[in-house]
Amino acid sequence: MQRLRRLRKNALLRETVAETSVRKEGLVYPVFVTFGKGVKEEVPSMPGVFRYSADRLGEVADAVLKAGIAGVMLFGIPAHKDERGSGAYDNEGVVPQALRFFRDYFKKCGKSFLLIADICLCEYTSHGHCGVLREGDVDNDASLPLHAAAALAAARAGADMVAPSSMMDGVVEAIRKELDKNGFESLPVMGYSAKFASAFYGPFRDAADSAPQCGDRKSYQMDFRNGREALRELDSDEREGADILMVKPALCYLDVVAAARARTLLPLAVYNVSGEYSMVKAAAAQGWIDEKRIVREILTGFFRAGADIVITYHALDFVRWEEEK
Ligand code: PBG
Repeated sequence: MQRLRRLRKNALLRETVAETSVRKEGLVYPVFVTFGKGVKEEVPSMPGVFRYSADRLGEVADAVLKAGIAGVMLFGIPAHKDERGSGAYDNEGVVPQALRFFRDYFKKCGKSFLLIADICLCEYTSHGHCGVLREGDVDNDASLPLHAAAALAAARAGADMVAPSSMMDGVVEAIRKELDKNGFESLPVMGYSAKFASAFYGPFRDAADSAPQCGDRKSYQMDFRNGREALRELDSDEREGADILMVKPALCYLDVVAAARARTLLPLAVYNVSGEYSMVKAAAAQGWIDEKRIVREILTGFFRAGADIVITYHALDFVRWEEEK
């Protein structure tokens, strides 16, 4: 008999042999920035998650600094949407405003964290698709320059990293070239490399008001039946010059994370998406699960599967709970 229980006998032994821990320096907190002034409104399907106008982001900055996590991922909700998603590449758009707010804030307090700008058109288009439409489908190549312009606007406003999330072919390369041409050759790109067409994005689309008005995203986001194809997507982003690769959503896709970890030498991120968060919140509100323990187990699972970076709405709660222990 192998006595595997020997090393589980007490807490000290268990701590000593623990293989994985949640690195808070690898956690990224998603933030929704909306137009207007003085706005802080809770997203109904995501308890504890708020939309902030740029002037209210001091509260977020303080919380992120206090937690000591890596930083934030910014999503914008513009006042006006149009066919071509022009708010996404407006230098005065909501995300550039938020970026400038954080930069000023950092200057005043002398501390900072990473500002990652999500780059996509869906929050900014009237039809809710992630690129421009031609005959009812997203036109891949016509959408690329708009993503490149959005990345450049974010870079100019002070982003530390850009993360294209639309699953357009060639988008990493298009952004890389535009950044390089404009003196941002040191700005990293994180690809949402293997992003699946998922029902788990439902609450995000409420938060960002970004649900497609017709059809769905299956002609650009991946079919969740396909694991090998996910590796092709990851390879392709790496070849296009991505500095960090991502798998999204997280919970159902840890096989892809583990396979990606074995395959690439790049840092790997997972996005623990809105629906994954909301399920935990809903069950916890009913008293059916122990939220703190569930969140620790979920986040640990991501790191154990091979993620270096976890983008999660639980980030601030998790750090606070760990410090209370
Ligand atoms: C935009 C984008 C989405 C998410 C991140 N970037 C929504 C989508 O693809 O519909 C989802 C994040 C989440 O659910 O938390 N393309």
